[in-house]
Amino acid sequence: MKKVLITGCSSGIGKEVALTLAQEGFEVVATVRHPEKAKDLAGHTHLCVEKADVLSYIEKEDDLGRIVKQYGSFDIVICNAGVMLGGFLEDLKMDEIQRLVDTNLMGVIYTIKAVLPDMIERQSGKIILLSSLAGRRGTPLMSCYDATKFALEGLAESLSLELAPYGITLHLVEPGCVQTDLYRQGAMKQSRRQGVYEQKLEKMSQKFQSGRPRKEVTFQILKICQGKTSRLHYPIPALKHFQIWLKPLIFSKLGHLVWKKWMNH
Ligand SMILES: NC(=O)c1ccc[n+]([C@@H]2O[C@H](COP(=O)([O-])OP(=O)(O)OC[C@H]3O[C@@H](n4cnc5c(N)ncnc54)[C@H](OP(=O)(O)O)[C@@H]3O)[C@@H](O)[C@H]2O)c1
Repeated sequence: MKKVLITGCSSGIGKEVALTLAQEGFEVVATVRHPEKAKDLAGHTHLCVEKADVLSYIEKEDDLGRIVKQYGSFDIVICNAGVMLGGFLEDLKMDEIQRLVDTNLMGVIYTIKAVLPDMIERQSGKIILLSSLAGRRGTPLMSCYDATKFALEGLAESLSLELAPYGITLHLVEPGCVQTDLYRQGAMKQSRRQGVYEQKLEKMSQKFQSGRPRKEVTFQILKICQGKTSRLHYPIPALKHFQIWLKPLIFSKLGHLVWKKWMNH
């Protein structure tokens, strides 16, 4: 049975993916920062919960290194842990931006490095990254978040070439807005510019609340884990493929105009 390591399973997409993969018979090690938040994950067959902070390397704790040592090889790693920082750049504080970059980019690099030596030795493995449509095109109020997801796209594209000779594949799952607490927890509610800026923040929050169901993302990840599909990019919904493909032709002009109009209203 394939063994899967998933980061950030206390809520949202990570929790649902952990439960679904375990139900499907994968051996899942679901990691959470605070085990007291993981009660829903307890008592399921094929599912172990471990404590891990993807920033533990900063404190020289190496939570993920300890887990890899304890469980041995992982066939699949899902780098899901992430945070949001939404708002106008001038309102965002440098320490918040640092935490965002540390979690969404450095935390992913740390997670990959924890499993990589063993995958290279065994000449096989799947690395799945929770990127976003925000990693393919920029949107207002998300500049720093988008920057971290653009960085993941570059990381994965490069690694997919570097690791192909070792039989290791990379997969970028790129959902648009999904119904989770991500935006609510990480969005600025006020702006020092007030008025129209705050209305935009509220509108962006509504976009997330009416986002796509988590199960669409989970289903896509399940198919990748089952080896039913093996591409680098998985925009969700898949229709977005065309928009992304057309980006150099249309989006950079038309899409930019649409967002500009949105900002001016
Ligand atoms: N929701 C969307 O619209 C959307 C769209 C595209 C991509 N994504 C991506 O999907 C992933 C999951 O997000 P979600 O929407 O499911 O949001 P979520 O419910 O807020 O889940 C985020 C998870 O990451 C964990 N996390 C945060 N910092 C961590 C750290 N330092 N170490 C370990 N775990 C940490 C959180 O744990 P705590 O409970 O301990 O904070 C939580 O379990 C993220 O990478 C996000 O960028 C989300």
